[in-house]
Amino acid sequence: MKNILVTGGAGFIGTNFVYYWLAKYPEDHIIVLDALTYAGNRANLFEAEKNPKFKFIHGNILDQPLVESLLKNHKIDTLVHFAAESHVDRSIHGPDEFINTNIVGTHTLLKAAKKVWLDESPKNHRFHHISTDEVYGSLKPKDSPFKEITPYTPNSPYAASKASSDHLVRAYHETYGLQTSISNCSNNYGPYQFPEKLIPLVIINIINGKPLPVYGDGRQIRDWLHVDDHNLGVDLILNRGKVGETYNIGGNNEWTNIDIVKTICNLIHERYPNGTSAHSNHPQTLITHVKDRLGHDRRYAINAEKISSELGYSPAESFETGIRKTLEWFLDKEDWWRRIMDGSYSNWIAVNYDDPK
Ligand code: NAD
Ligand code: DAU
Repeated sequence: MKNILVTGGAGFIGTNFVYYWLAKYPEDHIIVLDALTYAGNRANLFEAEKNPKFKFIHGNILDQPLVESLLKNHKIDTLVHFAAESHVDRSIHGPDEFINTNIVGTHTLLKAAKKVWLDESPKNHRFHHISTDEVYGSLKPKDSPFKEITPYTPNSPYAASKASSDHLVRAYHETYGLQTSISNCSNNYGPYQFPEKLIPLVIINIINGKPLPVYGDGRQIRDWLHVDDHNLGVDLILNRGKVGETYNIGGNNEWTNIDIVKTICNLIHERYPNGTSAHSNHPQTLITHVKDRLGHDRRYAINAEKISSELGYSPAESFETGIRKTLEWFLDKEDWWRRIMDGSYSNWIAVNYDDPK
């Protein structure tokens, strides 16, 4: 049985991790620590909060005394660190928060974990750090996909902040013996993804009859993985992975952005051949090429051979099934994303919950 502290558990991947884990390991306890930034939505955890094995703490990873008290009071043996500023465009417009949360925040967690787990009352533990393929930089069309040994070449402030946090995690293992692991995953999609990211943005803009902004020529390539398959990889690493190791997680599923956008247009057209109430033409007519992202990485691709051969990883979801399920989720959960779009989701949270702290 594990007592797990999940940072950033009210965000996209963290929320999916909580539901994945509670369903698969009902004996385990999960504590979520989340600052509820714009990307955190406590309403995501509405169902989880009914489970006595689950607890939500509204707090910041930069608050070391709080983290130490959570590690001690809840007898935490496993920390899964999702909390981050995660959106590349925001990091270009305002990098400061990325440095604070992703670098200083990760270091604060490492200091708390070292103090509680190594210095004060040594115990078996695991500090798992969630990272990204963006730390490896950008690939050319014929380059081989990223391996764990690919040199770090982060290009955006977001990627540089994640790279920096990865190095700190590694250093705490090498120097102090903290029992760490790291996963570097490719682009995720699925339920609860914040509608600033490409796939939910395109779905919602089509429903609202708004332009679909494609940066530059749209020929940039991303390697898309369903969020449950990311969490399956994290599960395998926590249960079977080696301490001190890094594992890449990916789905061998490279797409150009323009093809992703057209695919979503076609799926929505298939479902609503006469259009939506906001737009009656084929959704592809909404595609609008806009100014490119600064320093836009051309291609990411993951080589997941290590996690596959060493830990038996194999994604369960094909892109064909995963994208259809994701589309259905967003069509069904209009209330969820409309509250985000109009900003009322934070009021809704305040009205619907007592703070259980
Ligand atoms: P997200 O932006 O949806 O969620 C981030 C969560 O962290 C939010 O709930 C937010 O409130 C919380 N948070 C932010 N700052 C905090 C702080 N200082 N203290 C406590 N909580 C804080 O992000 P996501 O897309 O779910 O990504 C989660 C992790 O996975 C990140 O570390 C990201 O770098 C990594 N990752 C994401 C992807 C992807 O495609 N989304 C792919 C690979 C890796
Ligand atoms: O690769 C993993 C990374 O994937 C994670 O580490 C990040 O946290 C996550 O945000 C994601 O980063 P990207 O920048 O790849 O995701 P995003 O959804 O912002 O953009 C995907 C691609 O689509 C990218 O090439 C930029 C492009 N794009 C994005 C938006 C929002 C557009 O063309 N138009 C848009 O409006």
